[in-house]
Amino acid sequence: MLLDAVVDSTFKFTDQTLLPSESNFAPVDEIGGPVEILHIEGEIPEDFPEGVYIRNGSNPLFGALHSTVSVFGESSEIWVEGEGMLHALYFAKRGSSASWSVSYNNRYVQSETLKIEQARKKPCFLPAIEGDSAAIIVAYILNYLRFGKVNKNISNTNVFEHAGRVYVVAESHEPQEICIQNLETGSTWDIGGEWDRAFTAHPKVAPGSGELVIFGSDAKKPFLVVGVVSDDGTKLKHKVDLKLDRSTLCHDIGVTLKYNIILDLPLTIDIDRLTKGGQLIEFEKEGYARIGVMPRYGDAESVMWFDVEPFCMFHLINCFEEGCCPRLPFS
Ligand SMILES: [Fe+2]
Repeated sequence: MLLDAVVDSTFKFTDQTLLPSESNFAPVDEIGGPVEILHIEGEIPEDFPEGVYIRNGSNPLFGALHSTVSVFGESSEIWVEGEGMLHALYFAKRGSSASWSVSYNNRYVQSETLKIEQARKKPCFLPAIEGDSAAIIVAYILNYLRFGKVNKNISNTNVFEHAGRVYVVAESHEPQEICIQNLETGSTWDIGGEWDRAFTAHPKVAPGSGELVIFGSDAKKPFLVVGVVSDDGTKLKHKVDLKLDRSTLCHDIGVTLKYNIILDLPLTIDIDRLTKGGQLIEFEKEGYARIGVMPRYGDAESVMWFDVEPFCMFHLINCFEEGCCPRLPFS
């Protein structure tokens, strides 16, 4: 309570305004339950599969991203820091007829930190990524002392399925399971307690085995850990520190029948440009770049590293093995 009083008396929260060109990123409210879509432009093909399409994205609580001002200076949330909101479109055929019933629902991912702020009915976490250095350091300390973590949990980046279960995830912490029927958030998936670190937002199902290849990259050692989850989702079959000697912004991973494709790129996020809508990332000019080809159950010693010209990328499009097996797209 004392720390809360310190924050309340020292920091002034303000809403960030959106530029007209950013209106498509404005947060929306939960609609409270599924609604039938009555107006459909075009036609849904007869052989379109029944099912649900779910999108995840950043949707700040309380109507806007926030900034704070205090004696320590200013700090602001950046656009990726909005809470995760799921948007679902359900496609179902009406009985035996050829007509479609389409409904829409949305729901916030019920993360631990969202529940804290909703219960208090106001933003509580101090922005701790962009701003004046002193303000950011104080935000880190106060967030940690008050809530046991320096940043919010925001599962706002992706939705993925493995072994019949569906999860939401951001790359900063473990996924949370969701129910696709009502968009309720379930428990955190730490693979039986075996994974307690960052978890990629882009895990890949390996062709052939159906195993899930995951990784976690971090700003502190171990910088990059790769894991292989069993096809039934119950066991972490493999977990290995690739013993990188730097923090690398490895955001995606590739899989083929036998290999994991690792990116070790000299990237730094330019937060200032990020928030101004310009170029997102910058090269470390003197940095090096490597592409690693790792046997599915390999380790730091068995990765074959290929030095390449420093380059910049977040996502892989495809990977395949040539000459030894059919071209299989990764899923
Ligand atoms: Fe991504």
